[in-house]
Amino acid sequence: MPAGTRSLTDQDLRTALGQRTILVTGGAGFIGSAVCRLLRDLTACRIVNLDKLGYASSPAALEPLTREPRYAFEQTDLCDRAALADIFQRHRPDAVIHLAAESHVDRSIDGPQAFIMSNIVGTFNLLEACRAHMASLSEPAAFRLVHVSTDEVYGSLEDGGRFTEQSRYDPRSPYSASKAASDHLAAAWRHTFGVPTLITNCGNNYGPFQFPEKLIPTLIIRALKGQDLPIYGGGTNVRDWIHVEDHARALLGVLAFGSLGSKYLIGAEEQHRNLDLAHMICDLVDGMVPRNQASRSLITHVPDRPGHDHRYAIDSSKVRTEIGWAPQRSLAEGLESTVRWYIDHKDWWEDIFRSGRYGGERLGLNQRQVAGT
Ligand SMILES: NC(=O)c1ccc[n+]([C@@H]2O[C@H](COP(=O)([O-])OP(=O)(O)OC[C@H]3O[C@@H](n4cnc5c(N)ncnc54)[C@H](O)[C@@H]3O)[C@@H](O)[C@H]2O)c1
Repeated sequence: MPAGTRSLTDQDLRTALGQRTILVTGGAGFIGSAVCRLLRDLTACRIVNLDKLGYASSPAALEPLTREPRYAFEQTDLCDRAALADIFQRHRPDAVIHLAAESHVDRSIDGPQAFIMSNIVGTFNLLEACRAHMASLSEPAAFRLVHVSTDEVYGSLEDGGRFTEQSRYDPRSPYSASKAASDHLAAAWRHTFGVPTLITNCGNNYGPFQFPEKLIPTLIIRALKGQDLPIYGGGTNVRDWIHVEDHARALLGVLAFGSLGSKYLIGAEEQHRNLDLAHMICDLVDGMVPRNQASRSLITHVPDRPGHDHRYAIDSSKVRTEIGWAPQRSLAEGLESTVRWYIDHKDWWEDIFRSGRYGGERLGLNQRQVAGT
């Protein structure tokens, strides 16, 4: 597909990915499971899902795959190097899409160590496993590793400008610092050892099966329950939102057509203040589940997150021009289907609360912050 001449089609992906064996790390998580489902729906690839099954994993999101002969699940922690080597030897992947990570900023404030272990040590172990695996391949140059990262590595924007592939790294939370470190490892393993990595940095995802601790599910679920809707600070922080299925499609596009060693910023041009997003969600919930009290009246401003980045905005022209990718839905459309999904899948989120994996409490208040800092 010549760069910039046409848009990425399902057929392009099917043809380019053929019957490759693709190892998806973190495939039981929110975005990873969307990637596995898309690989199943669009391609003839073999899918190997490696996930430790942490608190945010959702086996239910993989239900459509479990009966597929071309799908395999490996419950493994990236910190277990011997298990990783064994998985590479048994499945012999042609490509890896690396999503496994601790992913919630607020949890990284309460307990950064897990982020260092999974996001940095885990990525190091994976890169080393890829390096050893490539040495055993007859065509190592065809191997690919797509390292999936976040726009948060670039820090916080003031009211103008957007992040580009040239933006300077400036992570500010333990989460974004650990992701930035993993991006640097992925780039270094390409330069030094020739591991064929591509790096993607994406904005805030939303959609089905997102764990209830994240902003959009929190607002939907609490509005449905008639509970107060906590908004950090004044709600003026701006995030660049993308539907998870649009992100998953971009990742397959980068795997199939990305230029080696490149990085791609992925965004849907949907930058909104948190307060405006909350209003959109309230109005959707009220439209679908009419009640006496307007959900907007439940909005409550709570103390801000420590070190809260003000604004993220992504310039995604490179992935659009080179790969031909574009999002397939607007935020208004994506939010409507997402609110509907949470209404229709009450059992899924109620089970998370019942199981004690998350109780709906506020996280990341930095209780142990040193006085005066
Ligand atoms: N959610 C977003 O808005 C967003 C935006 C941009 C980039 N990302 C990146 O995308 C990736 C996936 O994010 P998500 O929102 O799906 O996260 P998630 O928390 O829903 O899922 C992460 C999955 O990784 C697994 N995992 C974590 N540590 C592991 C380890 N050491 N070994 C094996 N498995 C492990 C977990 O069990 C979980 O199933 C992350 O790398 C994240 O940094 C997320």
